[in-house]
Amino acid sequence: DLLAQIKHLEEIFTVPKETLDKIVTKFVKELEKGLAKEGSTIGDITDIRQPMNPTWCMGFPTGHETGTFLALDMGGTNLRVCEIHLPEEKGEFDIIQSKYRMPEELKTGTADELWGYIADCLQQFIEYHHEGEKLDKLPLGFTFSYPATQHYIDHGILQRWTKGFDIDGVEGEDVVPPFEKALAERGVPIKLTALINDTTGTLIASAYTDTEMKIGCIFGTGCNAAYMENCGSIPKLAHMNLDPELPIAINCEYGAFDNEHEVLPLTKYDHQIDEESPRPGQQAFEKMIAGLYLGEIFRLVLLDMHDGKHMFEGQSVDKLKKPYNIDASILAAIEEDPFENLSETAELMRVQFDLQCNKPELELVRRLAELIGTRAARLSACGVAAICKKKGYKTAHVGADGSVFNKYPHFKARGAQALREMLDWPEKKNKRDADPVEIMTAEDGSGVGAALIAALTLKRVKEGQ
Ligand code: BG6
Ligand code: GLC
Repeated sequence: DLLAQIKHLEEIFTVPKETLDKIVTKFVKELEKGLAKEGSTIGDITDIRQPMNPTWCMGFPTGHETGTFLALDMGGTNLRVCEIHLPEEKGEFDIIQSKYRMPEELKTGTADELWGYIADCLQQFIEYHHEGEKLDKLPLGFTFSYPATQHYIDHGILQRWTKGFDIDGVEGEDVVPPFEKALAERGVPIKLTALINDTTGTLIASAYTDTEMKIGCIFGTGCNAAYMENCGSIPKLAHMNLDPELPIAINCEYGAFDNEHEVLPLTKYDHQIDEESPRPGQQAFEKMIAGLYLGEIFRLVLLDMHDGKHMFEGQSVDKLKKPYNIDASILAAIEEDPFENLSETAELMRVQFDLQCNKPELELVRRLAELIGTRAARLSACGVAAICKKKGYKTAHVGADGSVFNKYPHFKARGAQALREMLDWPEKKNKRDADPVEIMTAEDGSGVGAALIAALTLKRVKEGQ
């Protein structure tokens, strides 16, 4: 019986090449459409289409950026504050940093609590590292990793919360004034210079050390990418009469890809996650692949198996009943169980969920983790393939960051395999040759990247551009 269940799961969770191709074809069209769409309506939070947000980060660093900058990273899991000294000449960065917990309650609390907490962390950082110093206002690069409509680099209207955040009164509003107000109330000497996305930071930080770098990606709690476009290829900016050759980083916000559910191979579990999320109908692509959701998919399948009387008969599954109770690191640990008899998985199921598993149950658990992890990696690669196809990149380095990319077993190899299938590369001459498009570990985008973008912005302001 369980073998039949495994076979069924394999059928619904496997993404064959034909499906990947179909996804990429639509993906390329959507990237184009996002650039074409006239003036993406300010604050129209009902527009859940892929926004392709212009970031006003105009080009790559030259290596001559210099100065001292603060960087604030609000990604979803941690809150991080860094102080970065960019050297006179390209070289090692000098970084000091502190991490703060991002309390779970804050994600569904009030806007005042959110900005107050962040301002408190910045205040603490400055008091600790600059005790007793008289400071001029320090320039800050704020990595705010949510979709924002920007008309300039130092403001941003939150289009919608993603990654499970649900704070009233922020969507449709410029996030900078309440943030600066919280700083002013505490007398914190900081001036926000640039509001950036984690993908843009990743792109810029990685390009600083590697000139082949063309795309910055995050595979973490959420998933998204940024790349450099020419202003002349962005019809929705045509009314601004910008130099057509001027490069500008585009934050794709492609977690929202295929919200219409046309090409993504959704299972009933994916539909359930969407329906029960704070923002149903949004982030369709992200909800199938990002770290926040991997454990949740796993949980829903196991509960369903139990309800169908296929597994854990006679045992209480109470611990499986709590939404978002399973972190992606649990799936990672199951995939990494080195023992033939899956003894570590058995132990994990016992300790985490009070469940005793027999051998066939353990095999299903392991296979399920593999299926979810493999689907995530293969689908993730579609976004990268689509940008390469759209831009005509035959070769590229892609900088990637995020907990899934850095920690989930086989994620890189599975993604690379999917890219190979989608991009139809010629046979390699030498097995050890690198792939033409390679996804690699990025530099610290929300630290170094935010500082570089802040430096580039100040330089542009000085030059009156
Ligand atoms: C971190 C970056 O390394 O990765 C953040 O500093 C980014 O800016 C994050 O948002 C993404 O990964 P995760 O897993 O924390 O969502
Ligand atoms: C979500 C956010 C996006 C961010 C990504 C990775 O998709 O909407 O802005 O880049 O997560 O953190």
